[in-house]
Amino acid sequence: MSWLLVVALLVGFVVDPSAATDHIVGANHGWNPNINYSLWSGNQTFYVGDLISFRYQKGTHNVFEVNETGYDNCTMDGVSGNWTSGKDFIKLPEARRYYFICGNGFCQQGMKVAITVHPLPHNASSNGSSGRGGTGAQEEASAAALRSRSAAWLAALAVAAAATFC
Ligand SMILES: *[C@@H]1O[C@H](CO)[C@@H](O)[C@H](O)[C@H]1NC(C)=O
Ligand SMILES: *[C@@H]1O[C@H](CO)[C@@H](O)[C@H](O)[C@H]1NC(C)=O
Ligand SMILES: *[C@@H]1O[C@H](CO)[C@@H](O)[C@H](O)[C@H]1NC(C)=O
Ligand SMILES: *[C@@H]1O[C@H](CO)[C@@H](O)[C@H](O)[C@H]1NC(C)=O
Ligand SMILES: *[C@@H]1O[C@H](CO)[C@@H](O)[C@H](O)[C@H]1NC(C)=O
Ligand SMILES: *[C@@H]1O[C@H](CO)[C@@H](O)[C@H](O)[C@H]1NC(C)=O
Ligand SMILES: *[C@@H]1O[C@H](CO)[C@@H](O)[C@H](O)[C@H]1NC(C)=O
Repeated sequence: MSWLLVVALLVGFVVDPSAATDHIVGANHGWNPNINYSLWSGNQTFYVGDLISFRYQKGTHNVFEVNETGYDNCTMDGVSGNWTSGKDFIKLPEARRYYFICGNGFCQQGMKVAITVHPLPHNASSNGSSGRGGTGAQEEASAAALRSRSAAWLAALAVAAAATFC
């Protein structure tokens, strides 16, 4: 019966709306040449406080944060950070566009990713159904729907995993 507890814990953890998400670049493909990272980033929703993480072979690749010019042209224009550990967790503290490229010449082979970080949905927990305009509440509702959908998905996965172990 202990798997029930595991599932309950997992769902409780995932459902927490204040939890930051770690977006693993390229998912199971990691940070490597010849991957279309626009397709990956288009499938993610980033919020302030989330993390983006890059997984790659240390020494072969790396990560530089640049500006839009650097991203478009695979140059170091507007460079503002670099990471080399092979497993880099980068905080996204601001709502804006972020641009990351590989600095070892592999940017030309697709190792570049641009993301848009959104502000946190309005904080309704304290004020519930106040009569503020529609857009904030709608944003919040859609974000909540998104989170609960992924929570449900993970819960199903957990049940499947638990079933396998029993
Ligand atoms: C990545 O995929 C998008 C959408 O299909 C496409 O528009 C874009 O040109 C692709 N980028 C590369 C570098 O192939
Ligand atoms: C985007 O996410 C959906 C749902 O998880 C998945 O079915 C789809 O394959 C993903 N698309 C890409 C390009 O990763
Ligand atoms: C990319 O580089 C070209 C030539 O250096 C420049 O004209 C262009 O403005 C750059 N792209 C962006 C988005 O700035
Ligand atoms: C990026 O940084 C370079 C160098 O500091 C600068 O010339 C360029 O205008 C910047 N590009 C953007 C889009 O801000
Ligand atoms: C990489 O970042 C460090 C600080 O974290 C800085 O000292 C160094 O100059 C940077 N290297 C490049 C090539 O930008
Ligand atoms: C939510 O509202 C409270 C009280 O107004 C504020 O202190 C807090 O920083 C807000 N949190 C977010 C994530 O905006
Ligand atoms: C909650 O509502 C009160 C009064 O309507 C407002 O002054 C306050 O800023 C609201 N707080 C948040 C976090 O929206």
